[in-house]
Amino acid sequence: MEATVNPEPNAQIQVLSDLEAVSHQAAFIFADISRNSIAVKGRFAVALSGGSTPKRFYTLLGFDPYRSKVEWNHVHFFWADERCVPKEDEESNFGLAYEAFLSKIPVPASNIHRVKGEEDPEKAAKDYEDDMKKFFGMSGIPVFDLIILGIGKDGHTASLFAGSKSLKKTIRLAVPAYVKRPRPKRARVTLTLPVLNNAAQILFLVSGRSKATIVHEVLGKEKTKDQYPAGLINPSRGSIIWLVDREAAARLKGISHDASTRVERLHW
Ligand code: 6PG
Repeated sequence: MEATVNPEPNAQIQVLSDLEAVSHQAAFIFADISRNSIAVKGRFAVALSGGSTPKRFYTLLGFDPYRSKVEWNHVHFFWADERCVPKEDEESNFGLAYEAFLSKIPVPASNIHRVKGEEDPEKAAKDYEDDMKKFFGMSGIPVFDLIILGIGKDGHTASLFAGSKSLKKTIRLAVPAYVKRPRPKRARVTLTLPVLNNAAQILFLVSGRSKATIVHEVLGKEKTKDQYPAGLINPSRGSIIWLVDREAAARLKGISHDASTRVERLHW
């Protein structure tokens, strides 16, 4: 059954034809927000995610028209989560972004704030927190200008999984997270919910038929959404854009399947 969607006032859902359209829209939004942040604050702090969905978006950022629209020397890259593997490993979220575009753009190495996945997970999380504190200031919760997120079929986002300790109230900025499947148990490091919910802008990228059920649970049903970590993302001072392709949105109704008006509103 389809679900009627009533997003929160600070949320927008854009349904696009396919992953290619989602990726272009994400690249457009990235360039637009970077321009505004740099104009206002002199820098743009973004946290990236891993997974298969953002790969094309990352690749597009390395090419025009997007590449030349971004002042890369003012962009600071962080990660919403990282797998505890060396940076050369094919599972590395840093590695994914590096291969796709970071290696191809003129960004200073000191602007890349990766999680050291090769370290012990607790140490990697602590070092990452220290790096964020140095960048954003020692007190308070960082305000990222943009955080890119995906959603798993089980409703996880970043490396916040339902029922995991990392979801509990915390004063930490980043914590180790342990993923039971696939076995053997894998360690990751993730930003915590308070950090994600303090972002100025969250951008979810969702594609494919396999996500239709979870998209319906999180965006289409008021009752179940809080059971899923992705449903707990609601930035108190910021806003969320969900870029969802038609297959993933198959069970939603009541939203326009055309993002063109949104694109015009984002002044390029
Ligand atoms: C990761 C993530 C994770 C991801 C979702 C969706 O490192 O795997 O950050 O939260 O965004 O699992 O992944 P897909 O894009 O592969 O569906």
